[in-house]
Amino acid sequence: MTYINDHYLKLTAGYLFPEIGRRVTAFCDKNPSANVIRLGIGDVTEPLAPVVIQAMHTAVDELATRSSFRGYGPEQGYDFLREAIAKHDYQARGAKVDADEIFVSDGSKCDSGNILDIFGENNVIAVLDPVYPVYVDTNVMAGHTGPADASGRYSGLVYLPVTAENDFVPELPRQRVDLIYLCYPNNPTGVVATKEMLKRWVEYAKQNGSVIFYDAAYEAYITDPAIPHSIYEIDGARDVAIEFRSFSKTAGFTGVRCAFTVIPKGLKGKTRDGKEVEIHPLWNRRHCTKFNGVSYPVQRGAAAIYSPEGKRQVRETIDFYLTNAKIIHGALTKLGLKVYGGVNAPYVWLKTPGNLSSWDFFDKLLQEAHLVGTPGSGFGACGEGYFRLSAFNSRANVEEAVQRFAKII
Ligand code: MLT
Repeated sequence: MTYINDHYLKLTAGYLFPEIGRRVTAFCDKNPSANVIRLGIGDVTEPLAPVVIQAMHTAVDELATRSSFRGYGPEQGYDFLREAIAKHDYQARGAKVDADEIFVSDGSKCDSGNILDIFGENNVIAVLDPVYPVYVDTNVMAGHTGPADASGRYSGLVYLPVTAENDFVPELPRQRVDLIYLCYPNNPTGVVATKEMLKRWVEYAKQNGSVIFYDAAYEAYITDPAIPHSIYEIDGARDVAIEFRSFSKTAGFTGVRCAFTVIPKGLKGKTRDGKEVEIHPLWNRRHCTKFNGVSYPVQRGAAAIYSPEGKRQVRETIDFYLTNAKIIHGALTKLGLKVYGGVNAPYVWLKTPGNLSSWDFFDKLLQEAHLVGTPGSGFGACGEGYFRLSAFNSRANVEEAVQRFAKII
C-alpha cells in the first residue's frame, strides 16, 4: 500500500468550524423548527458593494468578445490590482511596499498555510494561544510538530499565552524562535496591536534573525487612528515580515475569493549551510508553479473598492458590522459578562459565565437560546473558559441574539 502523510494523524480533531457545523446540523435535524442564529464562523452576510458588482459585470462582458477576452492572467495578479493595493493600502499610510512585492491569491488562509512550502523543516515556530487554528494545523501537517498533549498543544511549537491576565499582550518568547505568527486585529480575541507592541516584535525578529508572518485580514475594522494597519508601518519591518491580507472581511469576498500576500524584496532566509537567500523569488517560484491566478472578473471587483465611491461603500458595510459588534459588546457587558474586543474588530471575546467550559457554554447557548458561537478552547488551551461571537449577521438577528442572551444568563 502507498504511504500517507503520517503527520495528518497527529491532528487532534476536525477543523474547528466544520466541527461546529456538524454539531449545529445535528441540533437542527432534531429541532427542525428552531430559529438558529449563527454568530460562529466569521462569514459575511451583507451583499457585495455595488461598485464591485458593476466592475465584475463589466469584466464578464469583456470576456464575451474575442478582442477583449483574456485567458491566463499573470500568476501574481494583474497590475491594475497590485498597483491599487500598493498605493492605497501601503503608500498612503507611509509604508513602503511596491506593486511587484504583492502576490494576489485566492485567500489568506491558503497563503498562510502554503507559505510553509518555502521555509525549512527545522524552524522553531511561535504562535499565540488562543490562535487562528490554521497556523497550528498547517504546521502539524507539514511535520513541524510532535504529537498533541491532553490540552491539544503540540510538542515542538512555542505557545505564547494571551489571556485577560496579561491584557491579551503576549510576552516575547523566552527562547529564540525562527517564525512568529501574529494576527492583528486579532482572531479570535478582537484585540489590536499598538505601534509599540509591533516595534518590540520587529526588534525581536531583527535580533534573532526571525521572520514574522503578519496576518492583517481584519485591518479594515481598525477604528482607532493610532493603531497600525500594516506591520510595514513599523521601521525595519520590511527586513523581517511577510504580510497576509484579504478582501474577505474587507469587502465581503469570503465566497468570491481574493486576497494577497506581501513579500518585501530584501527579506532573507538562510540555507542549511548558512548562505543568505531572498524569500521573494522562492515564493514567486512556488506561486507560479502551483497557482494560476485569481480570475479576471474577481480582480476587477477587488480593484473597484479602491475608487472613492468603492471606499465609501465598503466602509459603510464595515461600519454596519462594527455597530453589530458594539451592540453585542454593550448588551453582554450590561449582563455582567467580561467582554473584550469588538471595537477594532468584528469579533467579541468573552469569559464564559459561571466558569463553564467553552464547549459547555456552546451547548447551553445552542440548546437554550438557539444561538451559535465559537468555543474559545477551539482556538487553543488558553482559550478554555472563553467564547467568541462574530458580528457578521443582520441587525435583526444581532438584536434578537442579545435578547436571547439576556434570557439565559
Ligand atoms: C473565522 O471565523 O475565524 C474565520 O472566518 C476563519 C477564516 O477566515 O478562515
